[in-house]
Amino acid sequence: MSSRLPGLYTLTVAERRRQVAAAAGLEVADLADLDGGLGDDDAAGMIENVLGRHALPFAVATNFTIDGVDALVPMVIEEPSVVAAASNAARMVRDAGGFTTEVAPAIVTGQIQLTQIADVDVAAAALADAAPMLLARARALSPRLCARGGGPLAVTARVLARPPGPDGGVIVVHLDVDCRDAMGANLVNTLCERLAEAVAHVASGRVGLRILSNLSDRRTVRVTCRAPDAALGDSRCPGPAVRAAIAAASRFAELDPYRAVTHNKGVMNGVDAVLVATGQDWRAVEAGAHAFAARSGAYRPLAVWREDGDGLVGELVLPLAVGIVGGALHAHRGARLALRLAGVATASRLAAIAAAAGLACNLAALRALATDGIQRGHMALHARAVARAAGAPADLIDEVADALAAAGDVRVEAARVILQELSAKDSP
Ligand code: MEV
Repeated sequence: MSSRLPGLYTLTVAERRRQVAAAAGLEVADLADLDGGLGDDDAAGMIENVLGRHALPFAVATNFTIDGVDALVPMVIEEPSVVAAASNAARMVRDAGGFTTEVAPAIVTGQIQLTQIADVDVAAAALADAAPMLLARARALSPRLCARGGGPLAVTARVLARPPGPDGGVIVVHLDVDCRDAMGANLVNTLCERLAEAVAHVASGRVGLRILSNLSDRRTVRVTCRAPDAALGDSRCPGPAVRAAIAAASRFAELDPYRAVTHNKGVMNGVDAVLVATGQDWRAVEAGAHAFAARSGAYRPLAVWREDGDGLVGELVLPLAVGIVGGALHAHRGARLALRLAGVATASRLAAIAAAAGLACNLAALRALATDGIQRGHMALHARAVARAAGAPADLIDEVADALAAAGDVRVEAARVILQELSAKDSP
């Protein structure tokens, strides 16, 4: 399977579906599930007070090679330019090997809060002694997960507050669980709820909250890539200058949290689009990513770029709790199809793809910002949307959009005038 589908963007939706289905080894009919892929009853079973099903564009980014294997990257997003940017950046790094990832085991931490503990030091020691027993109990509560090679791995305790205080002595007990191919929220929450009484008994405390932590800092993905000067440059801006400008943009984000947040927003453009397409809990990943970015006490960029000889090397590290079983995937055929399109058979591959999309979007954004500015590309796409809104037929959209961009006046009224002029020219 090759993710190189040059000219995909020039095709109609129907032609694209044919080409993508062939590339992914699917039937064109299978792609019908991309139009929502969620029936009324499925939707009503997912959340409350359902009135309908909300639509967003579903696209694939091309050119991605991740860990030596090509992937079509499914993306659902409302923002123009992101899919094109991801595909362009993937092309820039492709010949130098594409993206390489290291995906950590799928360890999610559950928290059991204990309050009103008279002596937190005695309780902490008792919990340390009882940890093997508590762990064995947790593993007995999750036999199927353990049989699949995952399951609870560790029980540890931390003192959070000493008496006196409104909650007395407070300890949090962490239960680390390898969730394998599941995102893990339901699994870990259930385990915490079922283990809590035993934990409280050991610590002579009162059970408080029992819930996973979305700071899944054990479940990280590291993705790297190399963009050679030859791929970074173009006729207007030579590669070495682009390389230096992107490295400077990266340092700017490292120096300033105001910039780091926007830099990371560009990373999450790619990550979230993949997560939404594949039915993941993107709020969980967002919460974890930003907390991870601030783990040193200062908010830092998740991705950095360094000059390396005649190219740039980029590295992105972020926690990515994703799953390919359970959650929205039960009900959402479109999300299941997205996984098939991407050739995803494990949660770790999905995490690798989402992270690669994040690094690609970051590279594309920094390249645009460090050269033309971001508005040029946005304007070209915006002009196409405006041409369409003005009623331009498919065969005239590019012409109208080019004229709008050239005039620097990208409004529907201006597009209508251009359309009239073109029709007047064409009429005998
Ligand atoms: C826009 O969605 C994302 C950017 O602002 C990211 C960045 O500034 O790096 C272009």
